[in-house]
Parts: sequence; C-alpha cells; structure tokens
Amino acid sequence: MYLLARVERVSKLCENVNEYLLRLDRKLGSKPGQFVMVWMPRVGEIPISVAWEKDSLLKLIIARKGVVTSYIHNNIREGCRFFLRGPLGKGFEITQGEALIVAGGYGAAPMLYLASMLREAGSRVTVALGFRENRNVMLVEEFEKLADRVFVATEDGSVGFKGQLTELVSSILSSSRYDIVYTCGREQMMERVVRMAMNAGIEVQASLERLIKCGIGICGSCTLEPQGLRVCWDGPVFNGYKLIQVDDFGKWWRDASGKRVPLPT
Ligand SMILES: Cc1cc2nc3c(=O)[nH]c(=O)nc-3n(C[C@H](O)[C@H](O)[C@H](O)COP(=O)(O)OP(=O)(O)OC[C@H]3O[C@@H](n4cnc5c(N)ncnc54)[C@H](O)[C@@H]3O)c2cc1C
Ligand code: FES
Repeated sequence: MYLLARVERVSKLCENVNEYLLRLDRKLGSKPGQFVMVWMPRVGEIPISVAWEKDSLLKLIIARKGVVTSYIHNNIREGCRFFLRGPLGKGFEITQGEALIVAGGYGAAPMLYLASMLREAGSRVTVALGFRENRNVMLVEEFEKLADRVFVATEDGSVGFKGQLTELVSSILSSSRYDIVYTCGREQMMERVVRMAMNAGIEVQASLERLIKCGIGICGSCTLEPQGLRVCWDGPVFNGYKLIQVDDFGKWWRDASGKRVPLPT
C-alpha cells in the first residue's frame, strides 16, 4: 500500500546529503531501524531508513549515490509529491540502560530516531559518529540535543578524534560499561564493532544494507548466506549472535543480477 508524501522542506546536511521533511497522507507508524521504499516513477525505487517520524510528518536523509538518489537530489523540491511504501523490515529493539550508538557517514540517518526513542524509554545514550572529513560531518548538534555524550571521529582529524571510528569505539568501550551497542554504517566497520561488543559480553544490534528490490521477502535479492536471511524481511537490523554466523557479513553481497560479489569498500 503506497502513501502519498508531500515535501515540506529540503535541507542540506553536508556535501551530498539532504534531509527531506515530508507530510504523509496518513501516519506511517514506524520503529527506528525500519525503512520505506521511495518510488520515483520511470527512474526507480530505493530503500531509505526512517530518520524520524511524528504524527503524519516523516524525515528521510538521502545521500547522493547513483541513479535514483541523484534524481532525488536534482529534482525533488518543496511542494513536490511522490509515493512511498512501508514501514518495512524489523527495526532496533529499544532497551533500558546504558546504550552506545555507533554510526558512520549517512548510517547516522536512522540513529537520531533511535536515540530519541531510547531517551523516551529512560536509557542513557552515548553516541560515536565517524566521518571521512570535515565536509562529510552531519547531525552532530542534533545528537548533542538528545544524547548524554557525543564523540566524533574523522579520518583526517579535522573534527574530533583523528582516526577510524572503530579506534574511538574501542577506547569508549574500555572506559565505560554499556548494556547494549547499536550500529549502522559501512559493513566492514560494523563487523569490527559487533566483534568488539561481543568480546566484551555486550549485546549488539547492527543495521545492514543490501540491494533491495521487492522489500517484502519474495525476490531473494537481499539474502545473506548460508542461512538465507533476507535483509528486507528478517532485518535490516540483526543481533550480533545471528550476524557472527553469517558468512556474508562484512564480506559479500549480491549485485543487481543476484551474483554474490565482494562487498563494496
Ligand atoms: C534498509 C536500507 C536502508 C537505507 N537507508 C538509507 C538512508 O537512510 N539514506 C541513504 O542515503 N541511503 C540509504 N540506503 C542506501 C540506498 O538505498 C542506496 O544508496 C540507494 O539504493 C542507491 O540507489 P541509486 O539508484 O542512487 O544508486 P545505483 O545507481 O543503484 O547505484 C550506485 C552505486 O551505489 C551502490 N548501491 C546501490 N544500492 C546500494 C545499497 N543498498 N547499499 C549500498 N550501496 C548501494 C551500487 O552498487 C553502485 O555502486 C539504505 C539501504 C538499505 C538497504
Ligand atoms: S528485496 Fe526481495 S527478498 Fe529482500
């Protein structure tokens, strides 16, 4: 079932990443970590995480990548209307306690919504964000309003900690005790974070990306081997215990023809 979305505002968050505030014709009713399929007629349909929703307002954060995302960046303005379907997939489980959110690049998109739900549930929230360089940094002030502590890492050291996000996470995990870690971003980064958390005996949940076609568990485009888990249906959020048994995690995905190929770096 499609929902009609009208664009209320478009804001640039950083180079190549825009935020779209949409008014829907009815409430979506999503959980953090769930996604919608955004349909651009005659161009394509792509999965985008829910970045925030309240009543009939919905935020999506979209990075320019290829055909459909570039079309959206170039053509979708205030007042435009388009259709989307969702909410799809399984989101993050909201727990109470000390939570650490680890997000790289536009992987931060679904984590603001998660942080606000964790706070509502009474959790204390620490956030670690990683970006390549200054021009990719986004949402830091928004996280600072919601979270108890926010750390930023950039690979070139232009903002915050200089180095990889995983190095920052390693020092955060060794200095405080957490009940749960949530992560979203590049899968190679998430694989390291999942292993670090599990080695420290901490529950961990990660949100994966694959090529999504149907979005409802039918076509097999997004399956993870060897279990045949479908990212669009069984995920995109999986817990660490499941992920460490998945051969594809951090290594393989399927291209548009369905062939298993190395994960893009
Ligand atoms: C559950 C889920 C949630 C997502 N949430 C967001 C979000 O909130 N914001 C956002 O900007 N993006 C998100 N993405 C990624 C987004 O769907 C892709 O960037 C988009 O589909 C690319 O479409 P395109 O037509 O612009 O690129 P294409 O022209 O199809 O491809 C351009 C390049 O991007 C690669 N690519 C295509 N699809 C994906 C993908 N799913 N993941 C990684 N690389 C891909 C291709 O291999 C190719 O190298 C999400 C993906 C999933 C699976
Ligand atoms: S995209 Fe079709 S099964 Fe997941």
